[in-house]
Amino acid sequence: MSEKKFNVAVAGATGAVGNQMIACLEERNFPVKSVKFLASERSAGRQLRFKGDLIPVETLREDSFKGVDIAIFSAGGGTSEKFAPCAAKDGCVVVDNSSAWRMDPDVPLVVPEVNPHAIADYKKKGIIANPNCSTIQMLVALNPIRKKCGIRRIVVSTYQAVSGTGKKAIDELFDQTRAMLNFLDWKKNVYPHRIAFNCLPQIDKFMDNGYTKEEMKMVNETRKIFEDSSIGVTATTVRVPVFYSHSESVNVETKEYISAADVIKMLRNAPGVKVVDDPANNLYPLAIDAAGQDLTLVGRIRQDESISNGINMWVVADNIRKGAATNAVQIAEILAKDYF
Ligand code: A2P
Repeated sequence: MSEKKFNVAVAGATGAVGNQMIACLEERNFPVKSVKFLASERSAGRQLRFKGDLIPVETLREDSFKGVDIAIFSAGGGTSEKFAPCAAKDGCVVVDNSSAWRMDPDVPLVVPEVNPHAIADYKKKGIIANPNCSTIQMLVALNPIRKKCGIRRIVVSTYQAVSGTGKKAIDELFDQTRAMLNFLDWKKNVYPHRIAFNCLPQIDKFMDNGYTKEEMKMVNETRKIFEDSSIGVTATTVRVPVFYSHSESVNVETKEYISAADVIKMLRNAPGVKVVDDPANNLYPLAIDAAGQDLTLVGRIRQDESISNGINMWVVADNIRKGAATNAVQIAEILAKDYF
C-alpha cells in the first residue's frame, strides 16, 4: 500500500453491511486520512466508533462528497442510483454494493480474486460495482477451474442467510424464533412467509421468466465478471433460517475434463479459498465456520458422474464480509494502491 492517505466516506454506515465496512476499513488498516459516516435522517444524532474515536453520523446529501476521495456505498439501490453520480461529479470514486450499477456497461463489476484488471474502467463513470453476495463466493471458487479448463455451464442452488436482507431481517428471524419457542404469536414484516423453521424459494421479486431477480443476478453477473456471455448459468436461490453465511451447491460442467482430485489440488492454492474437504472425518464447509472471516470455504468436491466433464461442490462464505464489505474494501485497496 502506498504512503498516501485518503478521505473516505461510508454511505449506509448504520446498516448491517455498512457496520462491517467500517470494521473492515479498521481491521485491514486502510490508509484513512479522514472518515465520514453517512445514513438517512433517521440516524441523525447517532455516533459510530472508528479506531477509538466517536464519529457523528451525517445525513446523506448531494453535496456530502466534496473533498472525499473514495466512498463505499451500501444504502440500497435507490440511494446509490441517486447519490453515486453526485459523488462522482465531485471527483469521488464510488464502490457501490447495491445492484443499481452492476450491469451498466460503463461500470466495472469486480471480484478482486477474479477480474481486478476491470477496475481500470472506473474512470468511465467514477463508479465500481460490488457483485451480488452469492455471485462473489461462487466465482472465487470457480475462477481457477475456469482458467484451467473452461466452463460450459453452471447449475447452482443457494441457501442464503437472512443478514443479506439487512438488519430488519436479522431481527425478524430472531423474533419469530423466540416467539415460536415460547408458544407465542409471531409476526412477519420483511419476508412474504415465516422464515423461522422454514425455507423460502424466493429471494427478491419474481420476473416475467419465472426466475427471481436474485437468480438472474447470478446469471448476468457471472457472465459479466467472467467476460463470457456463452456460459450457461441456471440458479435457484433460497432463503434459509441462518443468520450469517450463504451456502451453495454448485454443479459445473467444464469444457475440458478435470478430476475432482485436481480441482482439490488447484483450489488449495487459489486466492481467497480454503478447501475444507475431509468426508472421512465429517469435515466440509459450514455456515458457522465461514461466519466472521473472509475466506470462501469449498468442500464436498466430487465428480458429477452423470456427465463426462462435471464437478460438484459446496461453497460457503460470510455474505456480509466477503459477499459485501470485504470485497468492497478490497476493491478500494486496489484503487488506492494502483490508481491514485
Ligand atoms: P438508516 O439506519 O438511517 O436507516 P440495512 O441494509 O441493514 O437495512 O441498512 C441500510 C443502510 O442504508 C442504513 O445505514 C440506512 O440508514 C441507509 N439508508 C437507507 N435509506 C437511505 C436513504 N434514503 N439515505 C441515506 N441512507 C439510507
